[in-house]
Amino acid sequence: MTKGVGSRSYTGPVAKVLVQHVCTECGTASPRWLGKCPGCGAFGTLAEELHATADAAASLARSPTRLGDVSASEGERISTGVPELDRVLGGGIVPASLVLVGGEPGVGKSTLLLSALCAISKSRKALLISGEESAAQVSLRAARLGGAEAVGILAETDLGTVCATLEHERPAVCVIDSVQTLHASDLGSAPGSVAQVREAAGRLLRVAKQAGVATILVGHVTKDGAVAGPRVLEHLVDCVLQFEGDRYHAHRILRATKNRFGSTNELGVFEMTGAGLVGVPDPSELFGSTHPGEVGAAVGCALEGTRPLLLEIQALVSPTDLAMPRRVATGVDPKRLAMIVAVLGRHAGLALGSADVFVNVAGGVRIEEPGADLAIALAIASASRGAALRENAAAFGEIGLTGRLRAASQAERRLDECAKLGIQTVLAPSGTAPRDGLRVSAVETLRAAVQAGLDAQAG
Ligand SMILES: Nc1ncnc2c1ncn2[C@@H]1O[C@H](COP(=O)(O)OP(=O)(O)OP(=O)(O)O)[C@@H](O)[C@H]1O
Ligand SMILES: [Mg+2]
Repeated sequence: MTKGVGSRSYTGPVAKVLVQHVCTECGTASPRWLGKCPGCGAFGTLAEELHATADAAASLARSPTRLGDVSASEGERISTGVPELDRVLGGGIVPASLVLVGGEPGVGKSTLLLSALCAISKSRKALLISGEESAAQVSLRAARLGGAEAVGILAETDLGTVCATLEHERPAVCVIDSVQTLHASDLGSAPGSVAQVREAAGRLLRVAKQAGVATILVGHVTKDGAVAGPRVLEHLVDCVLQFEGDRYHAHRILRATKNRFGSTNELGVFEMTGAGLVGVPDPSELFGSTHPGEVGAAVGCALEGTRPLLLEIQALVSPTDLAMPRRVATGVDPKRLAMIVAVLGRHAGLALGSADVFVNVAGGVRIEEPGADLAIALAIASASRGAALRENAAAFGEIGLTGRLRAASQAERRLDECAKLGIQTVLAPSGTAPRDGLRVSAVETLRAAVQAGLDAQAG
């Protein structure tokens, strides 16, 4: 609705607003402010409230569209040129979406995103807003990666300038490294403060949706691994990616912790090399090999999203005089480890009450899937008994508190992966269908699994 008033014209509906004073205790409304509420007699409880009049509210209303009439085209995701990143995003970046990438300092966030921009810039407009490094520093990294000539770079920290540039340039993809360095001059607080980060994310969200720019924000993480700044940042964006890795290992793992356009279970594996981050298309080969006859090592098959992953799990059991023996886990949830040790003691006759138990997953990988339980238990059993597990064997299955094994999801996928990597025997919960070319040894309980895993070696 457009109304002409004098020489100036206002666009949009003009709402007539009614001011009321409403008691916060009993809800009595009065047209003017009173010290004492006429309803309940309380003092100082009347607060001003704004109400739109009925016809003003009607003029504000808009008629909704039926979802069936909304036109949307699927399948126009932008490939980042980094297959592992595409996989975690659910098949590429969705245009005009907002992605947050978090990770420890030095894990390789800038490197990963610069190589994605390099590939994108070959067919579309790509822009890097760098608040942390100067253009010269970025160009040094770009020289190491190669192929970044067409990537636009702007070393800028002023939020207003960044938003205006995005609206003017309208790149297909823009990386902001990092959101904590952006500064809105109209807010008093320092860059990186909660108010600044929230303002920056909110404004970038509007620009991303209006100008159709797929925006990737780099976020710092706090000591305990959460993205620094308000939680609201994670709610605002469409997708949150976590980049993890040990600085002492060359391997880095990228996971989605939130994704509005794809699965959150997908996992990307990278290796940091002199020429940047290189995707590892077959991580099982890298992480899933043990030395034959080694005591305390087992191969587990965990499923991350749609991707089965063979992992070597190592355990050490050593006698201790401590009143509270240690249970130390790297890559495994400590509570899960405590549970597995307890079930081993109670239902598989493996008393570990006076021993320290250490468990480590090879390659700095962290496993969250319960399907890896059986392999962890077998590694501990092997270490405790001092006997190696069967050669060329892998295991998967969830351990229940009763000592019974629960069927793991997508068993065929896991078996396929085992067969692909030359595994001969697989210990799996009973009910797992056999597969050609593999000896599937179906076991019902943890006790039976420990026996099957260890005794065959002796026999
Ligand atoms: N020439 C090189 N060869 C191998 N690895 C390198 C080389 N140069 C840098 N790196 C690796 O790259 C990592 C730094 O990557 P990058 O700057 O992308 O991290 P970041 O996550 O952006 O860090 P920050 O949070 O500090 O910005 C270093 O930890 C180092 O391991
Ligand atoms: Mg960086």
